[in-house]
Amino acid sequence: MTGPLTLPRVRLATLPTPLVPAPRLSEAAGVEIWLKRDDLTGLGVGGNKVRGLEYLLGDALARGCDHLVTGGGPASNWAMLAALAARLHGLAATLVCYGDPVPAVGNMALAGVAGATVRFTGEQDRTSVDRVVEEVAAELRAAGACPLALGRGGATPVGALGYATAAVELAGQLAAAGIGPATFWLATGSCGTQGGLHAGVAWQGLGRVVGVTVSRPAPECVERVTALARGAAQLLGVPAPTEPPTILDGHLGPAYGRRSPEGDAAAALVACTEGVFLDPVFAAKAMAGLLVAARRGEVTGPVVFLVSGGAPTLFTTP
Ligand SMILES: Cc1ncc(COP(=O)(O)O)c(C=O)c1O
Repeated sequence: MTGPLTLPRVRLATLPTPLVPAPRLSEAAGVEIWLKRDDLTGLGVGGNKVRGLEYLLGDALARGCDHLVTGGGPASNWAMLAALAARLHGLAATLVCYGDPVPAVGNMALAGVAGATVRFTGEQDRTSVDRVVEEVAAELRAAGACPLALGRGGATPVGALGYATAAVELAGQLAAAGIGPATFWLATGSCGTQGGLHAGVAWQGLGRVVGVTVSRPAPECVERVTALARGAAQLLGVPAPTEPPTILDGHLGPAYGRRSPEGDAAAALVACTEGVFLDPVFAAKAMAGLLVAARRGEVTGPVVFLVSGGAPTLFTTP
């Protein structure tokens, strides 16, 4: 199967995901909010990473790869879904995690079910993953395999195609719902999701995108989102966005991968008003940022909030 301009793509997601009004949440927030339910993308436990994996796996198969090597933290949604997608399409999967071996719970347990081999870097520094991913890929190449090595989050121009093309899906849904230009609101980590959406929303003329950073410093996100949006637009053969991306800081809480009290409160509000659970690492913090912005009158509706998945971390996040 191919995507726009015959880009290699495999089918992993159940699309389109629902775009639903959130009337009780909107009333509580004081701004019109819609939820884009990408927690329901359907592969495994769903989540935003499934869209990018359609293109990353398509690319891997087109190159004749037989092994996917990637990684992240032991609780990485990305790593688990990447391993699952790889196995589904006949590739072996090796995941590299920073730190020392930990009990296999949550995403790590699910990666085990998917048959992934896991290696730990022994270093707490998250960037150690990227180095060891390259080392593992080199070992596999030397042994005659054909690995595809991907950095944390799958944040490459090819991976960003998932959300660049999601904008086409959103354009149809917004038109059907009679919604004009919107503000797309999401959590930003490795920046691939925002990079793709930034390119896609500009391409389709849908409004603007606001990313709430939950791990990297805002200036680094601006750089990464800009580069990924440009790369995705180039692959699609459409103009790159002319506006710089918007990154909102200040909602990280104690650290990446940890709950924040304001994120937990925001997630509880969404659960009690709309019956949707937001993951504590990403979407809960993004929603906390949206509620503050709405209270201060800094955002006007309609807002399309990306529910980005991460269900396993509901049970494992400290
Ligand atoms: C549930 C969830 N939401 C949001 C994100 C952020 O996406 P990105 O890394 O593309 O910025 C991630 C990344 O792992 C995620 O797992």
